[in-house]
Amino acid sequence: VFKQLVRGAFNQSKAFVKRSSMVQSLLYDIQNRTMFTDVKWHERMLSDKVRVDTYRDGIAGNVKPGDVVIDLGTGTGLLAFFAARSGARTVYAVDHSDFIDVAKQIGERNGIGNVVFVKTNSRDFAPPEKADVLVHEQIGRALFGENMIENLLDLKRRALKPSGRILPARFDFYVEPMVKKEGYRVPFLWDNDATGIDLSFLKSSTAIDPFKDKTYPYLSIKCLEVDYFLTDPEPVLSLDLDTIQSAADIPTRFEVVRKVARAGMLDGFCVYFRVRFDDTVNFDTSPFSPQTSWDNLELRTERRQYDLGDEIRYSLALEVLHDSNTWSVSVGA
Ligand SMILES: C[S@@+](CC[C@H](N)C(=O)[O-])C[C@H]1O[C@@H](n2cnc3c(N)ncnc32)[C@H](O)[C@@H]1O
Repeated sequence: VFKQLVRGAFNQSKAFVKRSSMVQSLLYDIQNRTMFTDVKWHERMLSDKVRVDTYRDGIAGNVKPGDVVIDLGTGTGLLAFFAARSGARTVYAVDHSDFIDVAKQIGERNGIGNVVFVKTNSRDFAPPEKADVLVHEQIGRALFGENMIENLLDLKRRALKPSGRILPARFDFYVEPMVKKEGYRVPFLWDNDATGIDLSFLKSSTAIDPFKDKTYPYLSIKCLEVDYFLTDPEPVLSLDLDTIQSAADIPTRFEVVRKVARAGMLDGFCVYFRVRFDDTVNFDTSPFSPQTSWDNLELRTERRQYDLGDEIRYSLALEVLHDSNTWSVSVGA
C-alpha cells in the first residue's frame, strides 16, 4: 500500500510538472541555453544568406540614427551589430547563453563600441531605458518554437516605448497539403504498400501503440523532399506582434477548406512561414523558395488521392503554440 501511495504521488507530481507552463518554460530555457553554446548552430545561422541578407536590409531600413535598440537573443551579436551600423545610439544585446562572451569579443574586434552585452534571460532583463526598436531572431523550425511570442510580448510590455517597433513583427504561417518525392515518403506503417508485406492490419491493431512517442506523427524534412503542393499556398494565420497584446489573441484552431489545384496523393502537411520586415523585405521557408537554415515540419496524415477541383478539408489544432508536438491535423471527408 505504501509503495502504491508513493508511486501515485510520484505520478501526480510528474503530471503536474508536465502541465505547468512555468516549469515547461524553465525547462525549455535550460535546453535552449545549452543548445546555443554549440558553435555549429551559429555557423549554420550565419551561413544562411537568405536570413542574413533579409535581416541586414530589414534593420538598415528600419533602425534610425539615435535609436535605442534591444537585441533579444543576440547569439554572435549579428543583429546588434547591424543595428549599431544603422546608427543606433545604444544596443542592449541580451542572451542567456555563455556564447555571449564570444559576441562581446566580435564587437571589440570590429570596433563596435555602442553595444552593451547583458548575459541574462530576456525575462529577467531590466532595461535601464525604454527602447525604440526590439530586434530578434527567435524563430523556431515551425515558427513559434523558441518561445518567440511569449518572450517578445514580455519585453514589449516592459521595455519598448509606446511608439516602439518589433523587427520583424509580421509572420505568415502556412500548413500546405503536399505530395513528397519518391524515395522521401515516410507513410505510417499501415499505409506502407511498398514492401510486398501486408502491414494494413496495423491500422486497427494496438501492436505498435507502445512504440509511438509523442512526436510520432511529425517529421523534420528538407526542402528537396517535397514534390509539390496540392493547393495554391495561403496562410492559415497571419500575425503582427506590433498590434498583438497577448498570446491569447492568437487563434489556435482552424477549419480549413481549400481547392485542389494539382491532383495527387496527399502524404502530409508541410509547415512553413514567411517573416516580414515590410512588404518588400521578407523571406519564407517554403520548400520552393531558396534554401534557408530552417527545416520544414511535416505533419503526417494517412495517404489519400485528390483530383483537380476537389475540396480538401482539414482541422488544425495548435494546442500549445510553442510546442509543435502538441499540434494535430485531421483531414475531413
Ligand atoms: C536563433 S538564435 C539567433 C542568434 C542571433 N540573433 C542571430 O540572428 O544570429 C537565438 C538566440 O537567442 C537566445 N535566447 C533564446 N531565448 C532567450 C531568452 N529568453 N533570453 C535570452 N536569450 C535567449 C539563444 O541563446 C540564442 O543565442
